[in-house]
Amino acid sequence: MAVVLGIETSCDETGVGIVADGRLIGAALASSMEEHVRFGGVVPEIAARAHLESLVPCVKAAFRQAGIGPSEIDAVAVTSGPGLATALQTGLAAAKAYALAWGRPLYGVHHLAGHVAADTLEHGPLPPRSVALIVSGGHTSLLLLGDLARDPIVHLGDTRDDAAGEAFDKIARILGLTYPGGPAIDHAARDGDPGAIGFPRAMLGVGCDFSFSGLKSAVARHVERDGPGLSVPDVAASFQEAVVDVLTRKAVDACLAHDVDTLVVVGGVAANRRLRQVAAERCGAAGITLRIPPPHLCTDNGAMIAAVGGLLVAADIPPSSLGLAADPSAPLTRASLDSAGF
Ligand code: KG4
Ligand code: ZN
Repeated sequence: MAVVLGIETSCDETGVGIVADGRLIGAALASSMEEHVRFGGVVPEIAARAHLESLVPCVKAAFRQAGIGPSEIDAVAVTSGPGLATALQTGLAAAKAYALAWGRPLYGVHHLAGHVAADTLEHGPLPPRSVALIVSGGHTSLLLLGDLARDPIVHLGDTRDDAAGEAFDKIARILGLTYPGGPAIDHAARDGDPGAIGFPRAMLGVGCDFSFSGLKSAVARHVERDGPGLSVPDVAASFQEAVVDVLTRKAVDACLAHDVDTLVVVGGVAANRRLRQVAAERCGAAGITLRIPPPHLCTDNGAMIAAVGGLLVAADIPPSSLGLAADPSAPLTRASLDSAGF
């Protein structure tokens, strides 16, 4: 079966992974996160430059860990979208060079399909049907999945404004916590009361779409009103609770509505402790099997892209051409991008 090298450079993490028969055998990750802290968000040109510096060392490190050499690679997979254009282009250029030099096929992969596939590295193949809740810095979607490599991906709902991770990042900034905001709020919330403030739960019980901008404004108003007397842990815990409540209720409702018994929760926000806890409680009560990758596979990494590559090779999906272009706003309709035949 196939050994696939995966490259991920869509944002500020340079990720390389090597997957053999659906098993992760080598991985390396470099992050330029610290270079972006003083700007409060990722600066694309800084991220792209950092990818350029980190890529080859990461590929070498992944090979070292896997204990194999380039001749044992059957295919190269790379995130070709969505993401920051210059950052994506760096990874694409590297992936094309490796594919060409090694004489191996190249697979352009949708970043969000990568997040879903990350779970297969931990929990094995997905069942024939599942619902995926993708919660990342740029996206929040509920998807109906069949075979990830072969079938079109059906959007049950998406966010109408901010992504869940974006809301975490913005609220963290309002609270004076460090970037990225998700882990900072997760941490601060441990000492807070999730019931302290009843922040709004937008669009609850109304379809599968999400909206987090009203919640963001409500938190901002609360912070402005309470000023110096503010309890950061209470606000963090109450905000987090509102997000987690909406995400988990809607995800469970989507499974029940579509008669699906498996929920996969993926993306950076899936690393959140409270989300993992409440999702487990609610899935347990509804008789739904919950799959969430371990936290290090929730945030961006190269292994998840290699995992998609492995699925595409196994499903005999035609590879992408070497003319594959970065698609910064690629819609999620299939796991593979620019694959001949689609
Ligand atoms: O999937 P990801 O690594 O990158 C994107 O594709 O966007 O997600 C990054 C997002 C950021 O918004 C970050 O704040 C959030 O995931 N995040 C978390 C946690 N860890 C990362 N959000 C809540 N709790 C966490 N523990
Ligand atoms: Zn991501």
